[in-house]
Amino acid sequence: MKGLMKNAMKNAMKDATKDTTKEMAMEMAMETMTETTMERTKGTMKDIPVVHAAARTIGGVAVGSVGLGAMPLSVEGRPDEDQAMATIHAALDAGVRLIDTADSYHWHAGEVGHNERLIARALAAYGRGSEEVLVATKGGRGRPGDGSWTVNGDPRHLRRAAEASAARLGVEAIGLYQLHKPDPAVPFADSVGALRDLADAGTIRMAGLSNVDREQIGIAQEILGPYLVSVQNRFSPAHQSTRDTLDLCTELGLAFLPWSPLGGISLSAVDDPGTGAPTPDSPFHALARARGVSPQQVCLAWHLARSPVVVPIPGARRPASIRDSAAAAGLTLSAEEVAGLCL
Ligand SMILES: NC(=O)c1ccc[n+]([C@@H]2O[C@H](COP(=O)([O-])OP(=O)(O)OC[C@H]3O[C@@H](n4cnc5c(N)ncnc54)[C@H](OP(=O)(O)O)[C@@H]3O)[C@@H](O)[C@H]2O)c1
Repeated sequence: MKGLMKNAMKNAMKDATKDTTKEMAMEMAMETMTETTMERTKGTMKDIPVVHAAARTIGGVAVGSVGLGAMPLSVEGRPDEDQAMATIHAALDAGVRLIDTADSYHWHAGEVGHNERLIARALAAYGRGSEEVLVATKGGRGRPGDGSWTVNGDPRHLRRAAEASAARLGVEAIGLYQLHKPDPAVPFADSVGALRDLADAGTIRMAGLSNVDREQIGIAQEILGPYLVSVQNRFSPAHQSTRDTLDLCTELGLAFLPWSPLGGISLSAVDDPGTGAPTPDSPFHALARARGVSPQQVCLAWHLARSPVVVPIPGARRPASIRDSAAAAGLTLSAEEVAGLCL
């Protein structure tokens, strides 16, 4: 059964894409998943496929199961430098090997790259092992300092922005560079073309997209070919309108990074949809109590159960949050438990 399922999924992947890099990445993911995620039900001895914390890859790069969304460390309400550094170091100690950032993750005007600089300092201070971390940054958005977010998908801007991000991160080539958001004022293919130029020039190693639909993923695949490795869209138990893009990523072997996987600071299935207050009677809380873990861990395990291409990037301002979130890597949900979450 295990072998059959593994082969069927491998063949499906081969049909979905002829790209060798993606096949290899998916094979690695499947290898880990099938070895660690098939559980036998007592009594029936039936194989239940349970996707859980098996390590994931992005473009063939091993990134563990849960990443760190670094945005809260630099935007409104950010912690002081010591706490921010401690949070990133706690993530690394907990085995996190993916950090998501953007040049626009800052608060005040004139602070472009605040989050990228912070990450570069934290990795340098951490030392050994930090070179294994995939830092995924983004370009194409701006923050004038009044709390708003702007969009700029001009290819010239994106090329300059990526070079500036590489300099701030202290790398010759950015591991993963994502178009933050399509700019309605710029043809999408032109913005994506800038990422292709950056990849060809060696400024970025891999390319990703954010806030895109299925059609845009298809267009970008044609332009970027194997450079395209990931899609980052809003997705959580309470926000599932992008499920079609997750399905497409699974089919194509592209990593899917759900942003605000816990629903941001509120409005997740973990919280009351109206007020954002914790709702101890939600299925997530009930299962968390039964398993002796936090509802956030259950939520992240729910994400991991969606597909082997999902790599959630929960945000954190406190070391305790990311430590707890990273532990979702060890939380295996049975098919019944996933179904019981009713989502
Ligand atoms: N591409 C895009 O357009 C886009 C948009 C938004 C976000 N993002 C990315 O997605 C990442 C995550 O999104 P997000 O930060 O908005 O929201 P989120 O991950 O849904 O929620 C983050 C909040 O949840 C809390 N939290 C996290 N883990 C917890 C745990 N185990 N127990 C208790 N509380 C926990 C954190 O608390 P503390 O702050 O107290 O630690 C933080 O306030 C961002 O950091 C960013 O990298 C991308």
